[in-house]
Amino acid sequence: MNKKTNLMRIIVCGMGVVGQSFLKLLLASSSTLYKEYGIKPRVVACVDSNGVAYSPTGLDLEKVLEIKEKFGSLKAFDGPKLPSDNYIEDLDAEVFLELTPTNLTTAEPGLSHIISALRSKKNVITVNKGPLALSFSSLIELSDYNNVMLRFSGTVGGGTPVLEFAKHCLKGDKITSFSGILNGTTNYILTRMADGLPFNEALRDAKEKGYAEANPSLDIDGDDAAAKLVIMANWIMGYKVTLRDVDKMGISNIHPDEFTKATAEGKSIKLIAKCDKKDLFVKPLPISKDDPIYVNGTLNAVTFKSEHSGEQTIIGKGAGGMETASSILRDLIEIKENMTKYQVN
Ligand code: HSE
Repeated sequence: MNKKTNLMRIIVCGMGVVGQSFLKLLLASSSTLYKEYGIKPRVVACVDSNGVAYSPTGLDLEKVLEIKEKFGSLKAFDGPKLPSDNYIEDLDAEVFLELTPTNLTTAEPGLSHIISALRSKKNVITVNKGPLALSFSSLIELSDYNNVMLRFSGTVGGGTPVLEFAKHCLKGDKITSFSGILNGTTNYILTRMADGLPFNEALRDAKEKGYAEANPSLDIDGDDAAAKLVIMANWIMGYKVTLRDVDKMGISNIHPDEFTKATAEGKSIKLIAKCDKKDLFVKPLPISKDDPIYVNGTLNAVTFKSEHSGEQTIIGKGAGGMETASSILRDLIEIKENMTKYQVN
């Protein structure tokens, strides 16, 4: 690992909205990253499903973005070939970014990518929920064994620092439970349904606005919220749970009368994820309009209950390319701080 310089060589695997936003954010933040955090990021490889852009001395990110925008793939990138098919293990880099789409059935290809990167002693940042929702403990063990960091702030809350708040801001206290809204798409759909729109129209609207996952059943059946709940339960509460342990119900079968009843009681129906000593569930529940987690549209909100400091709620946008890219940048800074701490002089 390159501990003695400020250089951070990065491999970006997955060049969708988040990957492209991250490159844009690096371009916009390079002087701040160096002045305030001593980081000189060099993206040495960008990989998408059709092609690769590679330069061992650091890619011209503007050129990479231009090619991606113009051709929709990196296939047209004119540059050196990767020196090996097993590029994740063989390339020299401090950080591997795993940004391929979430697969909650097999976790692939993200899971294999992360394992290869950790085994070759690269720090990993991912926003891919699949590997963590299905294999959280073993991935953390693998990162510890190889003495590198695995960070995943963007998997929960998009750019809102839900995981960091719980992990770093309540030191010395103990979180005993948390509950909240972890999926922006369903919150948007439920907000529209509370205004009287039928489910199918609200779903179509959410799709048109680009909120829903490529496969919207991940949102509406509660799988996306359940994956986030599993990540939080493992990371924050120290539980050893996977997706199979979540008691899960989606939002596609809510009768319009339930909205009418909730409204009469000063409530509305929200898809709630909850974790405490006895419950690990995702289900639609009536929530009082006075409850701090009562947020509308695509917002996410989580209330943490702690032993000594009471309840705190964090609210913010739960998705978005640039927002999620900002969480990757925070993880990158944390990794750099950790590398500096153990720097050998
Ligand atoms: N489909 C997800 C949501 C995206 O609506 O919250 C962010 O994980």
